[in-house]
Amino acid sequence: MRALQITELTGPDTALKIVDVPEPGAEHPMTPGSGVLVDVHAAGVSFPEVLQTRGEYQVRPPLPFVPGSEVGGVVREVRGDSPLQPGDRVAAFCMLGGFAEVAVAPTFLTFKIPDALDFAQGAALILNYHTAYFALKLRGRLAEGETVLIHGAAGGVGTASIQVAKGLGATTIAVVSTDEKAEVAKRAGADHVVRSDGAWKDEAVELSGGGVHLVLDPVGGDRFTDSLRSLRRAGRVVVVGFTGGSIPEVRVNRLLLRNTEVIGAGWGEWVLSNPPVNLEIGAAIDELIAGGHIDPIVGQRFPLDAAADALKTIDGRGALGKVVLDVR
Ligand SMILES: NC(=O)c1ccc[n+]([C@@H]2O[C@H](COP(=O)([O-])OP(=O)(O)OC[C@H]3O[C@@H](n4cnc5c(N)ncnc54)[C@H](OP(=O)(O)O)[C@@H]3O)[C@@H](O)[C@H]2O)c1
Repeated sequence: MRALQITELTGPDTALKIVDVPEPGAEHPMTPGSGVLVDVHAAGVSFPEVLQTRGEYQVRPPLPFVPGSEVGGVVREVRGDSPLQPGDRVAAFCMLGGFAEVAVAPTFLTFKIPDALDFAQGAALILNYHTAYFALKLRGRLAEGETVLIHGAAGGVGTASIQVAKGLGATTIAVVSTDEKAEVAKRAGADHVVRSDGAWKDEAVELSGGGVHLVLDPVGGDRFTDSLRSLRRAGRVVVVGFTGGSIPEVRVNRLLLRNTEVIGAGWGEWVLSNPPVNLEIGAAIDELIAGGHIDPIVGQRFPLDAAADALKTIDGRGALGKVVLDVR
């Protein structure tokens, strides 16, 4: 099968090579004795793959390896116990191996997708939407009627978080850095859009009538203190990532002054060791799709052999929704 391998840790421009490799076998390390073999139509591209081309991600398989954590495609074979059938259209989280014509994913991370979603949207569904639900609802305890501020709101996690938060009955304030990204956040359904280079903290306090209930933060960096200041009493900041490049530090006196919580949300760390939680999240996402709240925003699309451009788009802060590789 055709696949993309990371052959050297030289960054997005040069690390990837198109290769011809055997299809994943039954002894695949991610799914010993079980799992779902998927004919891949689209592969989702995310920050971790950018980091992997430099050897900077926490998962460091021996070289060479096929990256790609999630795909949209058609079930070819089901190994072990599963309600899925060959021919089902699915979104599958394979962790590695997704930048290829055939991938294998654990059964508990493979979900049927409705006909209304195309394969590219399927490839946008698991990492971002499951993270958004996990971070907003299970970790952040977002409740109907609350207001949530979402950083990096035109990116993959950001657009997903807008839609999940809206589906949970919250009001959303999106923080973005450009006019083009403001349009993307609006298309995702944001109620309000503010600019990260403007007075976003004051605007958020005003728009929410005294401070937001929750901040969802995939960006980190030096805006973190203003995120704390944008909260009302007993507000929560949910920490999701650090695309801004630096890990913020909190002076913890700020937390007791207004009964503030800072909450970590590491989706993979939680769900990989707890398969039933995936079913709970999958069912919640299905309900939000059926209710018309989730319609993944696919941004730039590239053929498999232009994956370097896909990675450079993310690396250069250019993602407009989910970046996707069209595999077949
Ligand atoms: N905790 C978890 O379980 C979990 C799960 C999935 C992803 N993540 C993490 O969440 C983060 C976001 O992922 P994503 O897929 O949404 O990424 P993305 O689509 O590339 O979006 C990231 C956003 O971050 C903002 N940003 C601010 N400063 C940036 C910079 N210097 N370089 C790049 N972007 C910058 C950009 O928005 P503006 O230009 O508008 O500021 C961009 O839209 C990543 O760190 C990822 O690893 C965490």
